[in-house]
Amino acid sequence: MEKQELLYEGKAKKVYRTDDPQLYIIDYKDDATAFNGLKKGTIGGKGIINNQMSNRLMQMLEREGIPTHFVQELSERQALVRKVSIVPLEVIVRNIAAGSFSKRYGVVEGMALETPVVELSYKNDALGDPLLNDDHALALKLATRQELDIIRSMALKINALLQQFWAECGVTLVDFKLEFGKTDDGRIILADEISPDTCRLWDTATGKKLDKDRFRRDLGDVEAAYEEVMNRLVAHAQH
Ligand code: TMP
Repeated sequence: MEKQELLYEGKAKKVYRTDDPQLYIIDYKDDATAFNGLKKGTIGGKGIINNQMSNRLMQMLEREGIPTHFVQELSERQALVRKVSIVPLEVIVRNIAAGSFSKRYGVVEGMALETPVVELSYKNDALGDPLLNDDHALALKLATRQELDIIRSMALKINALLQQFWAECGVTLVDFKLEFGKTDDGRIILADEISPDTCRLWDTATGKKLDKDRFRRDLGDVEAAYEEVMNRLVAHAQH
């Protein structure tokens, strides 16, 4: 499959067309941003880890009945994916209070939540991805009622599967962000990536943060944390 013209360049990935109109190539970069692009840097080797981790997790989810955009790993940094139009919602699932949830509701980071929380944000950098609810999403025609219901139930199922998977790696899945896409025939499938950029992953034994919060908060050892959590995943696959 040949890379053709660059369709889109985001903060952490590039998307290319291919000679098949139904397939795109994603190319993962080492660039990292935080706070809506205010903080910029690079995390050496991140693109390789995020590509390989996302591909493995999506294959696991596919085996468990979740439709995803993943087709094939092409190289260290590139994956072949199904073409979708991205639903302009960031779908966040939380198991433990952290980040903006802790700030907004005044609860300490690390507090277990009584039930998983699904949050929606409007995927719009100019507006800073504002939080919204189903009524807002419907009123703004970002998705239909049926699509919102499918997205919520898929997000909760993905949470249960990822939580168990990471637990088996000795890693606590605190929260994560998903994006969904719509195929030409109207099906909703999981798109974007699942990686330490988009998840909070804490070492269950020590509580050490093994994700992008090390970059966002200047905690140091950023590359080592990405490598550590990838090694856990690889070790899990060998059992
Ligand atoms: P938050 O606590 O900052 O709202 O983040 C919740 C989760 O979403 C966390 O796992 C990090 C992830 N996330 C992204 O993937 N992209 C973003 O732009 C933001 C703000 C968070």
